[in-house]
Amino acid sequence: MALPIFTDRLVLRAYEEDDLQQLHAVLYGDEAAMRLLGGPRDLPGTRAALERSIRQQEFGGYSFWPVIERESGLMCGEAGLFPLAADGPDVALGYAFGSAYWGRGYATEAATAVIAEAFGELAMDRLVAITREDNLGSRHVLGKLGFREHGLRHVWGAEQIFFTLQRPAATA
Ligand SMILES: CC(C)(COP(=O)(O)OP(=O)(O)OC[C@H]1O[C@@H](n2cnc3c(N)ncnc32)[C@H](O)[C@@H]1OP(=O)(O)O)[C@@H](O)C(=O)NCCC(=O)NCCS
Repeated sequence: MALPIFTDRLVLRAYEEDDLQQLHAVLYGDEAAMRLLGGPRDLPGTRAALERSIRQQEFGGYSFWPVIERESGLMCGEAGLFPLAADGPDVALGYAFGSAYWGRGYATEAATAVIAEAFGELAMDRLVAITREDNLGSRHVLGKLGFREHGLRHVWGAEQIFFTLQRPAATA
């Protein structure tokens, strides 16, 4: 797994325990960012999410990764891959950014790099994604990335639209 991953404006790297305060301030404690993701977390809730990602990286070789803005050196969100269910096989693309960082193309830029990693280094054949019906911004991003919609499913505690993206033949 080739971390860190560099894009034009962003870096994705592995989470560290020390990321807690920054992650909470920029994302998990941000009411607007978490509105469609179950609401803002308290600090123990953010710690639990951070530890889940660190464990997933250790045992699965991929995870959600903090996204750092290269120009400022600040964390602006997270993006990466997570098993949809503990018993597999689907792996979901995910991304979330602090509201101060929306509208700059960061979700599209980070997700494009994650997809390249999934179909390249990680040799995955298919990715899935889920988003709530009213998350129009995220649905738009997934459409731009080439994901196809497959109707609603109950996933991660809510009714969500289920999307898939197949590995393109050129990288197979
Ligand atoms: C959804 C989210 C990831 C988008 O991040 P972003 O960095 O602003 O996304 P981008 O700038 O790459 O692209 C957003 C696109 O959606 C469009 N968009 C944004 N809000 C929209 C809305 N309410 N309705 C329709 N389109 C919308 C933008 O115009 C842009 O389209 P364009 O590139 O064609 O102009 C961000 O708002 C976020 O982190 N939200 C909270 C967490 C979340 O919901 N994560 C997704 C969970 S499934």
